[in-house]
Amino acid sequence: MEKELQRIREAAFHELEQALDATALNDLRVKVLGKKGELTAVLRSLGSVSASMRPRIGQLVNDLRLDFEKELQAKQEAIKEAELNSRLAAEKIDVTLPGRRRELGRRHPLTLTLDRIKDVFLRMGFDIEEGPEVESDYYNFEALNLPPDHPARDMQDSFYITDQFLLRTHTSPVQVRTMQSKEPNTPIRMIAPGKVYRRDYDATHSPMFQQVEGLVVGPNIRFSDLKGTLEMFCQGIFGDSVKVRFRPSYFPFTEPSAEVDISCVICKGSGCRVCKGTGWLEILGSGMVHPRVLEMSQYDPAVVSGFAFGMGVERIAMLLFGIDDLRLFYENDVRFLRRF
Ligand code: FA5
Ligand code: MG
Repeated sequence: MEKELQRIREAAFHELEQALDATALNDLRVKVLGKKGELTAVLRSLGSVSASMRPRIGQLVNDLRLDFEKELQAKQEAIKEAELNSRLAAEKIDVTLPGRRRELGRRHPLTLTLDRIKDVFLRMGFDIEEGPEVESDYYNFEALNLPPDHPARDMQDSFYITDQFLLRTHTSPVQVRTMQSKEPNTPIRMIAPGKVYRRDYDATHSPMFQQVEGLVVGPNIRFSDLKGTLEMFCQGIFGDSVKVRFRPSYFPFTEPSAEVDISCVICKGSGCRVCKGTGWLEILGSGMVHPRVLEMSQYDPAVVSGFAFGMGVERIAMLLFGIDDLRLFYENDVRFLRRF
């Protein structure tokens, strides 16, 4: 019996040393001290021990239990402390580490450009109007005096959705919508920014691009008002030193008509692929509102006159930021977008 107790003691203390965590310790405690444990078994068999040996064996069992419990508790505390230490180590904050830089978003160059354009016109007292991108043939062409056989109405140039609806090819239908929303002859001074769509694709043409339409109507509005407004606009955007030229042109909805070119900032006028070797880049079309267009919108050309213009936002952004391919604006390459 004494030998058995010695074996239990050695085995128990050996396993205690090996135990690595709280679960192992608990298993060991059950194995030695539990109801079906080794020590309990010895106690149970005490009846078979001779009466003279019984006190000594009882004493040995008791000693072993006390020793084991003491060691067990010490080990439990050691494990608990080790766990706490490793948790603290994991949670340690190194206050000397550099902070993590937060990436800032930024505005798209076309948004920046559009905001500048709006800003210049708002300071001149213009209102902002809007119109739908899916437009009817009537507003996009007919009410703008484009005859049915006009080449711009060709399926080749425009994105038709049905026979009578298409993606608007310019923002000019907003001229008509604005006039028709007012009492006849009410003075107007508005711009209408928005997306437009054409079957175009090269370094200066994108199938979807943005225009800003302008319309000023009132008594005695003259071509000199158009020229003064657009010159002021160009200086407001590009600075006083920019070279601007008015070139006679043709639009069915204006008479007379003019297109405005800006000296090419990419090549400084010596000729490049952006200006197609001319030294100039066309940024807008304009003219005096055609009397037929006023009439079709219930405005009386004998009482009021007006001028209108439509500019390409991407073209202006190209000149502002010195970009030689307009398609870059729509490729969303972050290396490009980070430059602004
Ligand atoms: C028009 O769209 C007329 N509605 C402008 C107008 C309005 C004239 C009011 C008179 C009165 P145009 O097709 O020229 O005109 O286009 C106007 C501007 O849009 C051009 O000067 C150019 O800057 C820009 N543009 C034209 N096509 C594209 C394209 N595919 N990609 C990018 N910009 C374009
Ligand atoms: Mg043009």
